[in-house]
Amino acid sequence: MIIHIINGPNLNVLGRRDQSIYGKVGYEELIERIKSFALSKEIRTEFFQSNHEGQLIDYIQSLDDSDGLVINPGAFAHYSYAIHDALEIFKGPKVEVHLSNIFKREEFRSKSVITPACDGVISGLGWYGYILGIEFIMEKMK
Ligand code: DQA
Repeated sequence: MIIHIINGPNLNVLGRRDQSIYGKVGYEELIERIKSFALSKEIRTEFFQSNHEGQLIDYIQSLDDSDGLVINPGAFAHYSYAIHDALEIFKGPKVEVHLSNIFKREEFRSKSVITPACDGVISGLGWYGYILGIEFIMEKMK
C-alpha cells in the first residue's frame, strides 16, 4: 500500500513557525514520525512539499499509483479552488489535515475550500493528525 503525504506552503519551515500554534515538531521530525509509524504498519509513504500551488496540483494529478493521500494544504486551504478541483479528480481516500485548530483561530482560517473534496478533515491535533489520517486510509482499504 502506498500513501502520499502532501504538505503545502510554509510547512517546510515548521520548526521556525509559532510553536505555540504549530507545536515543537519540525518538518524533518514530522516526516520521520510519519515514516516510522507507516513502516510499523508495512505501508509505503511518499512525501511531497511545495510552496507553489501549481506544483501541488501537478503532483496530485500525477498520483495514479496511490492508495490514498493525506494533505495539509497550508493557507491554500482557505482559497485554492484549483487544489480542490485537483483533489476531486483523485479517486482514493483523501484526508485533509491541519496541525492547528483552524476553527479557533482567525476568522479567515475557519473556512477550508478543500474540505468538500476530501473524505474528512482533522484539525488541531498537531503531528498526530497525519497518523490518524493514515489510519483512516488503512481502514478504508480493508
Ligand atoms: C495550517 C493552518 C493554515 O491556516 C495555515 O495557513 C498553515 C498551516 C495548519 O497546519 O494548521 O500554513 O494548515
